[in-house]
Amino acid sequence: MENDRLEQVRERYRAAATTVLTATGSSGGCCGSPAAPAGDSTAGAPAAGCCGDATAPVETEEVFGAALYAADETAELPDGAVLASLGCGNPTAVAELRAGERVLDLGSGGGIDVLLSARRVGPTGFAYGVDMTPEMLELARRNAAEAGATNVEFLEGRIEALPLPDAAVDVVISNCVVNLSTDKDAVLAEVFRVLVPGGRVGISDVVAEDHLSPAERAERGDFAGCIAGALSRQEYLDGLTAAGFTETEVTFTHEVRPGLHGAIVRAVKPVTV
Ligand SMILES: C[S@@+](CC[C@H](N)C(=O)[O-])C[C@H]1O[C@@H](n2cnc3c(N)ncnc32)[C@H](O)[C@@H]1O
Repeated sequence: MENDRLEQVRERYRAAATTVLTATGSSGGCCGSPAAPAGDSTAGAPAAGCCGDATAPVETEEVFGAALYAADETAELPDGAVLASLGCGNPTAVAELRAGERVLDLGSGGGIDVLLSARRVGPTGFAYGVDMTPEMLELARRNAAEAGATNVEFLEGRIEALPLPDAAVDVVISNCVVNLSTDKDAVLAEVFRVLVPGGRVGISDVVAEDHLSPAERAERGDFAGCIAGALSRQEYLDGLTAAGFTETEVTFTHEVRPGLHGAIVRAVKPVTV
């Protein structure tokens, strides 16, 4: 069951990245080809593999993807990074990044949040992305090269076993990926390990209202589509506390399915542990 889910997720995002890499060259995106003719109902629509329902009309899917970023934030990014956005929030906005900080993005996909982070932390800071899908890493590296970003690195790995040493980063961000993990306790433990004491978490994720059972979450969308694997708000808070975090909060921002929300997750690793 666990391996099946992992493979479904890997296959879904491999397909999404491959669609971008092969069909749109260096300036295309998962969420529709800019070359699609005017009036084409698929223009701007999410390709199969995006969070949410790939068959839904784009109007109903503005709860995911690039629509969640301010236009001035994305204006200077490569089209391929913006259009490949598959998230459910804007974690770089909530993490309040400062010059010189080291940032890690869990499940970095096409790289949009790594590139935005790199810009915010500046030349004295650094932004890492970790993703398990080689095709996504290829897309992210291509977008970074196109953006001319030199303070970034994309690492292949699973967020349940991060390829970074202890206390390597000041901030961990993520955009709609923790819900895709089959071992969320391991993810939160790894986030705690790689943060410096006093380091902080600023994650966007899909989170369920507490009354929604796992079966009810699964009725509203599949696991690889970022719905069925969502933690409830209380499960998230309990998981963060069990991992050792303090100052934990989960704030709903927008409903993505009945009883399921895009949410901001914040927490701090205590200075003394
Ligand atoms: C919904 S997309 C989000 C991508 C990106 N954060 C964004 O906002 O566009 C999920 C990404 O997480 C990656 N991913 C999913 N589960 C993972 C895991 N357990 N370990 C590492 N990467 C994972 C997928 O390969 C995919 O690129």
